[in-house]
Amino acid sequence: MKKIFRAEDASLDDLAGRRVGIIGYGNLGRPITLNLRDSGLDIILSERDSERQTLARREGFRPVPLPDLVRSADLIFLLLPDELMQTVFLRDISPWLTRGDMLVFASASNIAFGFIEPPPMVDVALLAPRTLGLAVRERYLAERGFFCFLSVHQDASGRAWRSLLALARAVGSLRGDAGGIEISFELEAELDLFMQQAVLPVLQNAIQTAGQVLIDHGYPPEATFIDLYLSGELEDLMRRAGREGLFPALRTMSLTSQYGLFSRLERFQDNRLATLMGLTLEDIRSGAFSRDWAREQLDGYPRLLRMLRKHAELELWDLEQEALDLLYPDRTRDDGAFDVRPRQ
Ligand SMILES: NC(=O)c1ccc[n+]([C@@H]2O[C@H](COP(=O)([O-])OP(=O)(O)OC[C@H]3O[C@@H](n4cnc5c(N)ncnc54)[C@H](OP(=O)(O)O)[C@@H]3O)[C@@H](O)[C@H]2O)c1
Repeated sequence: MKKIFRAEDASLDDLAGRRVGIIGYGNLGRPITLNLRDSGLDIILSERDSERQTLARREGFRPVPLPDLVRSADLIFLLLPDELMQTVFLRDISPWLTRGDMLVFASASNIAFGFIEPPPMVDVALLAPRTLGLAVRERYLAERGFFCFLSVHQDASGRAWRSLLALARAVGSLRGDAGGIEISFELEAELDLFMQQAVLPVLQNAIQTAGQVLIDHGYPPEATFIDLYLSGELEDLMRRAGREGLFPALRTMSLTSQYGLFSRLERFQDNRLATLMGLTLEDIRSGAFSRDWAREQLDGYPRLLRMLRKHAELELWDLEQEALDLLYPDRTRDDGAFDVRPRQ
């Protein structure tokens, strides 16, 4: 099996006469739905009664109840929050599935950790964009592709790969020099969690600590936050690293920057980091993290709420919001940013 798929590996003919049902018109559901409609696919949508349902109606869809969608669609794209998926699957999807249906996930975790076990008569696949929902739409409109992870977990029909590749092409992922990378459900789920649990905490600690140190030393908060991330300079560097590699991107900086970085690199190299990352990975792979997270959800998120409240109260974020007010005087603050309630 080939490991990277491009547009020439997929044909929209493989979806001819087949209807795609999309469940959820959220951050990823909306861009995917709009892209598939623009690619000429026959779409049916289900979205619960909410602001997003109103938006879907305004944008030309007529959302239907979930059982109706499952009965009428051939491919079913589950774009619900991962933590709701198991309940919705058991109650509203599984009873209506028929032989030859195909379930498509945008995140592998529910299958990889055994929270959802589809019947053997259906195909089960993964199409997981490696970018944000917003970029999935923006890139489609700009006729550019985006990388995604692709996998087939169950191939009951014998044509699961062809269907999945056609869907990846229709959603706009395989355009230009982007493509679909084959991976197992297990690896996708583990990689995703590792980024969230080992890489993001290190980055967040670095940014928070640097912000606090600079402000404690009398640097104005707006200058501090602009230098740290508000300017988007770091984002530009990472985008360049994404095309050329991290070392070549760092080499495009001034010689002072390069000398500063490489002469101080060792000072910040902490031997415990590799050990801690290894332990974090072990927790993920053994299922310890997903058991812990499942318990937390059952209990009503007590620990998550405590941690979010504690972080939302950090004075650093007040200073950051004031810096943003100064930079963008016309902006309206999104108070939802500090709403710590999980959505159900
Ligand atoms: N966001 C991304 O950039 C991204 C990237 C890669 C993969 N993913 C994956 O994509 C999937 C969806 O994530 P998301 O970020 O798009 O989630 P999201 O923004 O929270 O959207 C989920 C949508 O599902 C709706 N919903 C909830 N219960 C429903 C039900 N019973 N019937 C119909 N609709 C229902 C929600 O409605 P309400 O508006 O009423 O809550 C919401 O519109 C997840 O598997 C996630 O891991 C997301």
